[in-house]
Amino acid sequence: MSTPVAVVLAAGKGTRMRSSQPKVLHEIAGRPMLAWVLDAARDAGCKEILVIVGHGQDDVRAAFADQQDLVWVVQEEQRGTGHALLQAAPFLRDEARVLVLSGDVPLVRAETLRALLEAAERGWGALAVADLDDPGRLGRVLVAPNGGLDRIVEYADASEEERAIRRINAGLYALRAPTVFDDLDQIDTDNAQGELYLTDAVGGAVRAGRAMTLVNLDDPAEAFGINDRSDLARAHRALLDRKAAQLMAAGVTVLEPERTVIEPGVTVAADTIIHPQVSLLGTTCIGEGCTIHQGAWIQDSNVADGAVIKPYSVLDHATVGPRAAAGPFARLRPGAELGEAAAVGNFVEVKNARLGPGAKAGHLTYLGDADIGARANIGAGVVTCNYDGERKHRTVIGERAFVGSDTMLVAPVSIGDHAVTGAGSVITQDVANGALGIGRARQRTIADWQARRAAASRAKPEKEQD
Ligand code: UD1
Ligand code: CA
Repeated sequence: MSTPVAVVLAAGKGTRMRSSQPKVLHEIAGRPMLAWVLDAARDAGCKEILVIVGHGQDDVRAAFADQQDLVWVVQEEQRGTGHALLQAAPFLRDEARVLVLSGDVPLVRAETLRALLEAAERGWGALAVADLDDPGRLGRVLVAPNGGLDRIVEYADASEEERAIRRINAGLYALRAPTVFDDLDQIDTDNAQGELYLTDAVGGAVRAGRAMTLVNLDDPAEAFGINDRSDLARAHRALLDRKAAQLMAAGVTVLEPERTVIEPGVTVAADTIIHPQVSLLGTTCIGEGCTIHQGAWIQDSNVADGAVIKPYSVLDHATVGPRAAAGPFARLRPGAELGEAAAVGNFVEVKNARLGPGAKAGHLTYLGDADIGARANIGAGVVTCNYDGERKHRTVIGERAFVGSDTMLVAPVSIGDHAVTGAGSVITQDVANGALGIGRARQRTIADWQARRAAASRAKPEKEQD
């Protein structure tokens, strides 16, 4: 069998989105909806993907500029899905198996596309259909007595009886070039929307005696087409639910999947527990036996086995070692690395800084551009003063060092192994191994302070009142 070519229809304006952005760039589960369609086409074996663009085409192209297997085909005026596919004709003169996909039907799976291609082999073409409880304004599928396709009627053109049909056209087809272009040449705009409908060409193929097989979608979510913002929310949720279901099947506890966001690119190992309102995003990777508490927001980060992320912590491009802990309310920014069993507590911010194994920073601390040795203890309110207004400088803290509360470490500066800084110190010079660094005003204590104040006020004559 020849390698299939995909044609993705993505030129429409998507008027009902009420957006300045092209519809296919609206994101679900962290990526533009079009990205999910392109992935499915690739996974189904398409080496070449023609993307029909028009409305907002510069933005669409820019969003996928790094993808070499895409051929951009411009549909200057958007005159309907049939007109959109016609634009691909110059690229498909030879015989080819063509998967026609809709850029706004993003939950389609590669298995389904493979099933469509196989079904098309048995006749001429195939289309995906689903029985939906809420078929909305999708095209309705009329079935012929032999069980194959009779025709597709668009919602806008359908009678009351036809609108009552729950079997819909998902907008996913396996067709053959160049024959399909003959069918497209036959269609007209004599319909409620005044458009050239691809669905009419599909009906035309049937009337010309070519068999169109119906492929039923087991998961009706695959047929979700996105035409407005509530469709967008529904598709987003469906994609996340699908991911949560996969993780649960693989031994991950997701306590309230409907209140959790786990993007499809995330990996989570078994026996990890994910509490409600957690977001695991991008390429985040969570190990085995971790606990991710309520409200944690974790983007493109690695969390090793047995680590605990406590409530409302934010991790962005961070690395958390085995059995380490962060939060509640910790912020790990890009380049933050917690070693094995290290711990950071509430209101601790870490950026481009490494805490060695067992190091701890419990409270109210900023650690930026720093290397912190194993088992060092960072007191409450410690700040690495890493920025001099022009450049960033590093702070190095040795193993088992004890940095007293409210120490300001003015970088570049280093604190040796087992060294100590006095609470409230401003440290501008290196502190050697085992030394105490203290840099603060010496305390004065004035005895009998209140008595002195009282005596002073008695000595002043009282102001006369007028
Ligand atoms: C289309 C189908 C409908 C099906 C539904 C599935 C037709 C006539 N109708 O309806 O039977 O149930 O999809 O979701 O095909 N596009 C272009 N150029 C155009 C018009 C559209 O590229 O001139 C693109 C759009 O960007 C979109 C896709 O084609 O990605 C579908 O177009 P849309 O207008 O959303 O069609 P529907 O009314 O949803
Ligand atoms: Ca649509």
